Amino acid sequence: MTEAILLVGGKGTRLRPLTVHTPKPMVPAAGVPFLAHQLGRARAAGVEHIVLATSYLAEVFDPYFGDGSSLGLRLEYVTEHEPLGTGGAIRNVASRLDSGPDDPVLIFNGDILTGLDIGALVDTHASAGADVSLHLTRVDDPRAFGLVPTDDSGRVTAFLEKPQTPEEIVTDQINAGAYVFRRSVIDSIPAGRPVSVERETFPGLLESGAHLHGMVDSTYWLDLGTPQAFIRGSADLVLGVAPSPAVPGRCGDRLVLPSATVAPDAKLTAGTVIGAGAVIAAGARISGSAILDNAVIGAGAVITDSLVGAGARVGARTSLSGTVIGDGATVGPDNELREGARVWCDTTLPPGSIRFSSDE
Ligand code: GTP
Repeated sequence: MTEAILLVGGKGTRLRPLTVHTPKPMVPAAGVPFLAHQLGRARAAGVEHIVLATSYLAEVFDPYFGDGSSLGLRLEYVTEHEPLGTGGAIRNVASRLDSGPDDPVLIFNGDILTGLDIGALVDTHASAGADVSLHLTRVDDPRAFGLVPTDDSGRVTAFLEKPQTPEEIVTDQINAGAYVFRRSVIDSIPAGRPVSVERETFPGLLESGAHLHGMVDSTYWLDLGTPQAFIRGSADLVLGVAPSPAVPGRCGDRLVLPSATVAPDAKLTAGTVIGAGAVIAAGARISGSAILDNAVIGAGAVITDSLVGAGARVGARTSLSGTVIGDGATVGPDNELREGARVWCDTTLPPGSIRFSSDE
């Protein structure tokens, strides 16, 4: 079966502080590093050999996933000492591929949660006789994305930068971050310097007359690049809305890892996950949120659509909505934090220090 490259070397700046100590693909979603879901899905599609292109915090991947044999995979790691960008990272791992010049090679961004039919993308690539095939997804508001229009046969006609005006929105199709490359195309990417596959390789290939093919589908798709998207993705994995063979338990309203302690009257809903060793006190209400390993949630706290980092503490009666609490941080009792707040790792908010409403 086809082998794959996984791009996991980005700095994940939009997710900070979640990515201060942990590279984005290793941040837990539904109880396991997000990467475990991608590896599980690739394995389920028949992929056996995966090369991980690492850079930022590269040293944490191997100790967790090792040679991949426990997952039925053969994993290899290649580290860029200076980040080479998406295209440079792909080129940099080429020597580890077993595929012949015309064979297909799968490439995945390491931060996409999707129900993509991986086999169908490989089949489309073969039947179209394409040089590169791209998974494309439709979005309601394409303004934040590069657009990828296709003709009636599915052939890509252009790569358009983020549209600025309504006239520039010529399609709602965007690059969904999963590709099949003909092996020889990987070898043609310039080596030893940063290259962006989105900004340089794809437009250059199109310019030179190469056949780039788009496969559009309407399956689940989410880019986990921002805190709100990451929290949504974790909840969707717990709920079973986003498919993954790696969720460590049965999908449903909540997922509580075995060594967590949850008070009997605490309410956990809407895809909430409670990590290993975490403690949830009496009367806490947690909805659509991820509480990572060893975090402690005080009595009567109300947590909605938020992520509480590993070992962080949230005090009694504190209310969090759309908020990220960094690893090891302490939010004292009777605080109220709302949409977009990011509490940095290992910091402390004293009791009652931030509110959006009266304390009465
Ligand atoms: P932001 O800094 O928040 O934009 O996140 P990011 O660094 O992950 O960048 P982006 O979301 O554009 O990256 C898309 C995918 O490519 C992710 O899976 C990244 O891990 C990966 N990636 C981005 N740049 C590099 C790089 O220089 N080297 C490697 N190996 N992977 C990269």
